[in-house]
Amino acid sequence: MSLIGHKALITGAGQGIGRACAEVFASQGADLVLLDKNSETLKEVSDKLTKTGSSIIARTLDLTDLGLLQSELESVRNMGVIDILVNNAGFDRPGTTAKISREGFEAVLGIHLTVPLFIIQLLLPSMRSAKWGRIVNVSSIYGLIGGKGEVAYSTAKAGVIGLTKSVAKEAARDGVTVNAVLPGLTRTPTIEKLMAERYKEMFISETPLGRMAEPEEVAKVIAFLASEDASYITGVALPVTGGWGI
Ligand SMILES: NC(=O)c1ccc[n+]([C@@H]2O[C@H](COP(=O)([O-])OP(=O)(O)OC[C@H]3O[C@@H](n4cnc5c(N)ncnc54)[C@H](O)[C@@H]3O)[C@@H](O)[C@H]2O)c1
Repeated sequence: MSLIGHKALITGAGQGIGRACAEVFASQGADLVLLDKNSETLKEVSDKLTKTGSSIIARTLDLTDLGLLQSELESVRNMGVIDILVNNAGFDRPGTTAKISREGFEAVLGIHLTVPLFIIQLLLPSMRSAKWGRIVNVSSIYGLIGGKGEVAYSTAKAGVIGLTKSVAKEAARDGVTVNAVLPGLTRTPTIEKLMAERYKEMFISETPLGRMAEPEEVAKVIAFLASEDASYITGVALPVTGGWGI
């Protein structure tokens, strides 16, 4: 599963699944471009990974500022071709159809759909010219089966699957694969901080493997899909759920 010789851009790399991706990718020899809006956590990750010998570029920005995102991506692109993209950054605005605000709905669609599409539009052309590229989009099992009280998030994550499959069809003949991972409950700082214990217990009791995922367990699947070893896999929406939802 070597990533030596590749440069990966990971969004939301400051903590959780994105941070675990940065760590796993660096351990496999990839050079990294790490984006996050939290300068403190991003610096912590980048300082730690610089010691691994990988080249690390870390940029703090709010990805939903598309003008800024474009100028940052143009500047990092000038430092070498980015041939792996992990669209991971995200957040939730819980709410039923009766309660969700238009602002909340659009914000969730923006970070999970508009931002990944925009980054793909900027990075895909050079992957296609190089005849090699990997895009891994982080969806959710809710994108497949829906979530009660999670109308915006489930809609956005279902959209991520549609985006993945459409770009996979467009880019396949140029050696670019595009896949989605669908995590179940994963022990990230946001889940630890925001999810009530009773909900965690409910998910765990419904999970055949009987526990949450660790972020590294999701990151290793993403790294596999980003590697040469996954050369004949494109357009999949792969659940990483410990059997939840089967
Ligand atoms: N943790 C889970 O149980 C779980 C389950 C299914 C899917 N996911 C998905 O996995 C991905 C990562 O989740 P996580 O739990 O690691 O999240 P997290 O909240 O722990 O980390 C997300 C990171 O993204 C960054 N980020 C968020 N919005 C940003 C923005 N506008 N600009 C720049 N950076 C931004 C945050 O600063 C943070 O560092 C998300 O897409 C999430 O929807 C998570």
